[in-house]
Amino acid sequence: MNIIENISLKPYNTFGIDATARHFVSVTTVNELKEVLSLSQFKNRFILGGGSNMLLKNDIDALVIHIDLKGISVLEKTKSHVHLRCMAGENWHELVLFCIEHNYGGLENLSLIPGNVGTAPIQNIGAYGVEIKDALISCEALNIETGKIKTFTNVECNFRYRNSIFKTELKGKYIITSVTFQLSKKLHKLHTSYGAIENELVKRNFKNPTIKNVSDAVIAIRQSKLPDPKVLGNSGSFFKNPIISVSKFNQFSTKFPEAPSYKVSETEYKIPAGWLIEQAGFKGKRFGDAGVHKKQALVLVNYGNASGTEIWNLALQIQKKVKDLYDITIEAEVNVI
Ligand code: EPU
Repeated sequence: MNIIENISLKPYNTFGIDATARHFVSVTTVNELKEVLSLSQFKNRFILGGGSNMLLKNDIDALVIHIDLKGISVLEKTKSHVHLRCMAGENWHELVLFCIEHNYGGLENLSLIPGNVGTAPIQNIGAYGVEIKDALISCEALNIETGKIKTFTNVECNFRYRNSIFKTELKGKYIITSVTFQLSKKLHKLHTSYGAIENELVKRNFKNPTIKNVSDAVIAIRQSKLPDPKVLGNSGSFFKNPIISVSKFNQFSTKFPEAPSYKVSETEYKIPAGWLIEQAGFKGKRFGDAGVHKKQALVLVNYGNASGTEIWNLALQIQKKVKDLYDITIEAEVNVI
């Protein structure tokens, strides 16, 4: 095991923020991870996955443990399904491509989401009508305190919109080491009713789409709207879409009848934060090296050398303007550290 001192985390976070880690180590096996956690001289630890859902406002005065556990294995196969176990350090999109190549259906709508497999359940990643919870059977996680592995069933993960038990009650208590999925081998249940996917499939003239066709459509949509972190630093959607009560929604929609909205339940509505931010005048705006993406106002970008604080100040400015204009509070979706 190689513990390095004072290294830049710029290559390890998709926002490309140049924060420094006091100590840093990559672990490639669960045993190595246990060993690192037992080192008594490092009381403060920071667990790093794909670095795709965080904004580093400050340097990290801790031992940064980079989860680099690799491997994908088939646990079980029936005529119709496969149970696939994937280690936490695998890249999410590479897992999706592996599934497409083997004709395993279920993850295709989640193509091109940045980040790693182990961090995906924490915020229940989702796109185009599918969330990771729809295919996840269980995940194994290491209890940081006891060093024991616990298996969490799908229900135990308590998944909600961009949320799970790992982001709430058990925050900072467990490290996800692997995730097991149930995927279809045939008669795939495709989710293509989401407007943008439907349009893209029609455009490509796919009448009986395969999972590969759906994945290709999603990739094309994402590439047309969302910046590639390798080219322009970002963390995907910076804010969550706010969920408001019916009474608040009624007031809002009377004042802004043109605003898009989605009914979540009998008592709640979701308003796209991207719309609110665009209407507030921020889309495509740039302040130094911090900016709001030209094609999707929900995404904040780093044009090169923005600090975490500069991005955060822009986020606060947006939050305030949206609150002043619409009386709606938008909350960060990324973890601000
Ligand atoms: N909109 C605007 N202006 C914008 C962006 C969006 O008016 O700049 C409007 C659109 O016209 C549309 C609505 O907002 O009416 C929704 O936009 P879109 O379909 O692009 O999706 P979103 O709600 O902005 C969510 C997820 C994305 C995911 C897409 C597609 C959240 C926080 N974000 O975005 O997830 O890819 O749906 O399913 O739920 C991510 O989490 O990093 C992410 C990219």
